[in-house]
Amino acid sequence: MKNKVKELLEQVEKFTSENLDCVEEFRIKMLGKKGEITQLFEDFKTFTAEQKREIGKDLNELKIKTLEKINSFKELLGKSQEKTTNIFDMTLPANNEPVGSRHPISIMKNKIIDIFKRLGYTIAEGPEIEDDWHVFSALNFPPEHPARDMQDTFFIESNPDILLRTHTSSIQVRAMEQTKPPIRIICPGRVFRNEAISARAHCIFHQVEGLYIDENVSFADLKQTLLYFAQEMFGKDTQIRLRPSYFPFTEPSAEMDVSCKICGGKGCNICKGTGWLEIMGCGMVDPNVLESCKIDSKKYTGFAFGMGVERMAMLKWQIRDLRLYFENDIRFLRQFGTVV
Ligand code: PHE
Repeated sequence: MKNKVKELLEQVEKFTSENLDCVEEFRIKMLGKKGEITQLFEDFKTFTAEQKREIGKDLNELKIKTLEKINSFKELLGKSQEKTTNIFDMTLPANNEPVGSRHPISIMKNKIIDIFKRLGYTIAEGPEIEDDWHVFSALNFPPEHPARDMQDTFFIESNPDILLRTHTSSIQVRAMEQTKPPIRIICPGRVFRNEAISARAHCIFHQVEGLYIDENVSFADLKQTLLYFAQEMFGKDTQIRLRPSYFPFTEPSAEMDVSCKICGGKGCNICKGTGWLEIMGCGMVDPNVLESCKIDSKKYTGFAFGMGVERMAMLKWQIRDLRLYFENDIRFLRQFGTVV
């Protein structure tokens, strides 16, 4: 027995391995159910007390050394295996992440904003849930004006003073109340009107409005600004025309048309044979509005304009149905590029 223990101890000390399977094989050979050391322990049971005393210590030591050796190899080889599985191959091509595209409304809104930014306009925003003052009263809407009618406006909790804004002009009122002229802002936002949904109307849509207030601002400034905008948006050869119109908050007021670029002004079904497309309302800010916002209307004048983003996108990309913007059909959305 003594010799056997010595021999096995030598084997253990010499043992070396480069893979985990060999280590496991060695463990089974030594300490498995029928392993050599296990067998020695079986034989040990039959020894006399004196024999046990003589050999017991060596036998125990052999078992401990074997376990230590096996465990240290397991740990070492386990770690290096982990390392090889964690190594990156930097030369592999990257995974192809699918790229999304912006919604056409966002693309158009950003295009509009970019053009006015170049003219020194800054962006102003405001709340979608508004009060009567900012949407109507401060903008010179007479109390009985039809736009306040339940037909057009969504009121909140049957309180006629709280409502969803029907235009982004409310942002301009807030800006005029909060800042002193000169004011030069562009106001993008979502607006709400109680209309039946169809190809040409929706109860939720987007507007971008602009406001410029300073000393000596004239209608000629308005016209030149809008001509610049139209040519940047629709091309250098675009022409504009201003037709007299009416808004409670501007005087004089106008509608702006751009020459139809689809037929080049000759007349087609998009421009209904007129050669012109209506794109926005505009005018000189009514002095009553300036006074409502505590701006001296003798010293300052200004102009304002407002356009629908959906309509601009329809004209730019010849989209024929407003409902397409809200359906989120991927085939529709993909057509507008991958500008993310
Ligand atoms: N607020 C108007 C609308 O919603 C647009 C507009 C803005 C017209 C500014 C004139 C001046 O229709």
